[in-house]
Amino acid sequence: MTAAAFGKSDFIVVANRLPVDVEKAPDGTLTWKEAPGGLVTALKPILSARNGAWVGWPGAPDVGREPVEGADMLLVPVKLSAQEVEEHYEGFSNGSLWPLYHDVIVKPEYHREWWNTYVEVNRRFAEETAKVAAEGATVWVQDYQLQLVPKMLRMLRPDVKIGFFLHIPFPPVELFMQMPWRREIIEGILGADLVGFHLPGGAQNFLYLASKLAGYPTSKGSIGVRSKFGVVTVGFRSVRVGAFPISIESAELAATAKLPETRQRARALRTELGNPEKILLGVDRLDYTKGIDVRLRAIGELYKEGRLDPERHVFVQLATPSRERVESYKMMRDDIERQVGRINGDFGRVGSPAIHYVHRPVPRRELLAFFAAADVMLVTPLRDGMNLVAKEYIACRNDSSGALVLSEFTGAAAELRQAYLCNPHDLEGVKNAIDEAAHQEPEDGKRRMRTMRRQVLQYDVDRWARSFLQTLAGTVDETPA
Ligand code: ADP
Ligand code: F6P
Repeated sequence: MTAAAFGKSDFIVVANRLPVDVEKAPDGTLTWKEAPGGLVTALKPILSARNGAWVGWPGAPDVGREPVEGADMLLVPVKLSAQEVEEHYEGFSNGSLWPLYHDVIVKPEYHREWWNTYVEVNRRFAEETAKVAAEGATVWVQDYQLQLVPKMLRMLRPDVKIGFFLHIPFPPVELFMQMPWRREIIEGILGADLVGFHLPGGAQNFLYLASKLAGYPTSKGSIGVRSKFGVVTVGFRSVRVGAFPISIESAELAATAKLPETRQRARALRTELGNPEKILLGVDRLDYTKGIDVRLRAIGELYKEGRLDPERHVFVQLATPSRERVESYKMMRDDIERQVGRINGDFGRVGSPAIHYVHRPVPRRELLAFFAAADVMLVTPLRDGMNLVAKEYIACRNDSSGALVLSEFTGAAAELRQAYLCNPHDLEGVKNAIDEAAHQEPEDGKRRMRTMRRQVLQYDVDRWARSFLQTLAGTVDETPA
């Protein structure tokens, strides 16, 4: 660590990934490209105003170097070996925690080696953070890959203020109890001063476990949204527990979707798709939690029953590759591609498939053009902490046209009540929701979309970050935001 970086940062984000993409050329040279997501954009003003730093993994094994200035902040890479990536990221994070926290859709595996590496890697993140933090700094730790960091960091640096936010669902108590290292995880998170979840239900589950597994006294009242926080008393410290639903850069998305070039591209997409009456769209990481198989089955049956017509109702599925070395992800990809092939075989024509399937990330501008072009957006996860895609679609519907089919099992469903809500385990229910959305009365559709747009534009990612950080700083009273 350079002397310049040591102990200088007043505000630090700690996340599994740095907000950059690292590319390794064949000759071994590395290029770092900024890869801003909603979180970076929301925090950028705070990061640049407060000597901010971002501690994270650069996204490839054995890559790491001295902290570098970039994107208006200090980037602090945490170097992980190939074995650590395998056991911390692919193993414990995405083979144990991810399926456990998503309703065990896939059976979680528990391996002691994975756990040991998870502890080691969390320790390294805590140590790197402790080095860059200025006296009394604010540190915001993100997500399930780093649940032990709050406690480890507190032991190294009792002077700093620590927030922790979980971006995925916190599971029901009965499921969490499977975890062999359940108490260690609860104790790890309780190193924070403020613990945030998307939904009050997750916060409530955590509060119950803090008492049951760790034996700490907890408050009894019910937790609200950005209000009525729970409290766990850990020795002389009070840890607050709350619900802060994340969101997107709504206004910026709406403005980009309104640009003439985006609208022109949206029109071109419709032409390229053969000018169908309705474009149905799915946009996801290729993940078994997203219910891509559910919507494919529903669409296949709707074509078969004549409730959708493959000539008039075209479905586009954009699926970005994800966690491709994890076995359950490989199996799911095969399943989905088999389903797409079968439906196209049954209902497509040469030169005019019923389903257009893309297994590549789509550039941001192009994605917004797809949102602007789509008449019906299909978001059908079996479980999802929030689902930002649903909010992004709504932000892009400037004329309030379009329809959102949304699984009840997403965090977004708590806020977007005017969507066509469905239970992804009930195939007939999903089919009915798609059918209704595809044949909605325009006026009814606009009324629904207007209400959802008000919600998404008002509660954006900036508001999310501010409500969390003000609560952490203790500068907010505990009334609804
Ligand atoms: P998760 O965090 O589980 O991936 P979210 O829906 O909350 O799910 O966020 C996914 C983000 O990735 C969104 O910003 C979305 O626009 C982007 N994304 C998802 N699929 C694609 C894709 N096929 N191409 C480009 N971006 C995508
Ligand atoms: O939403 C959970 C999450 O792990 C995010 O932190 C991350 O941006 C996204 O899923 C993609 O995951 P990964 O970092 O494993 O590619």
